[in-house]
Amino acid sequence: NLKIEIAPSILSADFSRLAEEVKTVEAAGADLLHLDVMDGHFVPNLTFGPQVVASLRPHTELPFDVHLMIEDPDRYLDEFARAGADWISVHAEACPHLHRTISRIKELGKKAGVALNPATPLSAIEWLLTDLDFVLVMSVNPGFGGQKFISFAVEKIKVLKTMIQDRGLAVKIQVDGGINPQTAPLVVAAGAEILVAGSAVFGKESYSEAIKALKEASKI
Ligand code: DX5
Ligand code: ZN
Repeated sequence: NLKIEIAPSILSADFSRLAEEVKTVEAAGADLLHLDVMDGHFVPNLTFGPQVVASLRPHTELPFDVHLMIEDPDRYLDEFARAGADWISVHAEACPHLHRTISRIKELGKKAGVALNPATPLSAIEWLLTDLDFVLVMSVNPGFGGQKFISFAVEKIKVLKTMIQDRGLAVKIQVDGGINPQTAPLVVAAGAEILVAGSAVFGKESYSEAIKALKEASKI
């Protein structure tokens, strides 16, 4: 009886009324709020930085799950922590000293995660697994909302789940990209516990119906 958590991504929200959007999605049953930070270098898109995170902080009690799609995230960890991030993920591909980066996130008292692009092998985090609170398996190439789910992510989640269980760890698996009521049961069956969803929540008329549909689809 696994509890599946839904983390709506504000990337697909109306940026002209973000605070309102966040309150609505909180009332609709979201478990975490996923905040996609993009720098135009690591990914071919730009979003927002710590100032927007700090501005949203007083408007909701949802934990902030900050997904850093940026080069050299070490430069900004303290700022995002101060801005109100509760969970912080960095990309393995952007961190030459990944263990140091993860250690810093934990020193800041935040939940630490590593995100892996679809083509990045699980071996990138193998030696670090015991230090992580979560792993973010990307099921699209990061940069944009509304892309098609890459199905080999399911197998990757299964293998990761086995790695975690073999080591007796409590590392959570988060999945991001193309999650909807059709793909949710596949990733949950594979071992994902936190589902990020942008267009499948903020792209819908009713956020509560959308979250309910994701949770129903996750009951497998
Ligand atoms: C993509 C972002 C995702 C994005 C997902 O680079 O990391 O969080 O918002 O959007 P959907 O759920 O629409 O694929
Ligand atoms: Zn994301």
